[in-house]
Amino acid sequence: MTAWDALATRRSGVPVFAPGHVWLAGAGPGDPGLLTLDALAGLAQADVVVHDALVDRRVLALAGAGARLEFAGKRGGKPSIDQADISERLVALARGGERVLRLKGGDPFVFGRGGEEAMVLAAAGVPFRVIPGITAGLAALAAAAIPATLRGVNRAVIFAAGHGADEDFDWAPLARTGQPIVLYMVMHNLERIAAALMTAGLPGATPAAVIAAATTPQQRVLVSTLAELPAAACEHNFEPPAIVVIGDIVKMRGELIGGDKP
Ligand SMILES: C[S@@+](CC[C@H](N)C(=O)[O-])C[C@H]1O[C@@H](n2cnc3c(N)ncnc32)[C@H](O)[C@@H]1O
Repeated sequence: MTAWDALATRRSGVPVFAPGHVWLAGAGPGDPGLLTLDALAGLAQADVVVHDALVDRRVLALAGAGARLEFAGKRGGKPSIDQADISERLVALARGGERVLRLKGGDPFVFGRGGEEAMVLAAAGVPFRVIPGITAGLAALAAAAIPATLRGVNRAVIFAAGHGADEDFDWAPLARTGQPIVLYMVMHNLERIAAALMTAGLPGATPAAVIAAATTPQQRVLVSTLAELPAAACEHNFEPPAIVVIGDIVKMRGELIGGDKP
């Protein structure tokens, strides 16, 4: 019995992907080893895989031989495909009787607009299921040897998006919690957000790190302080996709792997 057969037996079978259904699945942060077995079952059975730019090529390579790959993301600075068009495309493919795997980086419901797509599918009466994925915020921390929580250090973790769509977002309440802040999509606004957090009282000496391309062969980690991270990340050419983490949990990296202390 193969490992796959053994797992299928234990879970009373591999989930069957029915024609006309959509599976809204997370592809994890990059490393195919971090896919869930259900996402893998979706890749093996899908007729069409509609994927975002952040889905790793090595994950897409696991699609069945007969599956079509459709790109539905942002690439090379070109404007993203309209979200409404993507949702409509999912509905049309499913109504055409295809097994549609909508594959998104990380978890589909974390800063990934999966919720919007699910609402359109539900309103259109298209049967769908959601398959969670490992979100980049957690994966990047683990891959960089930074525990997301540590007894005696923090009791909460804040996940926030740093993209420019909501520039009037009030960072002060987050800073006041004193709990670690994990930032997605922040590289273009890092200087402004770091300044806002410091204005709100978070010490500039708070340990901070940026983790780029986590869990891929291109993974890079830079440890610094809140005050110095924006300039250091720029100096060392850190680019998206990247996660920034601010808080005392960052210190643990030095203890776990040695060196690299803030
Ligand atoms: C549109 S959000 C999608 C988040 C995704 N749904 C998730 O749960 O991870 C894209 C952002 O996720 C982060 N990200 C995704 N993959 C990453 C990776 N391998 N390494 C570091 N950051 C990553 C970056 O902040 C990137 O700008």
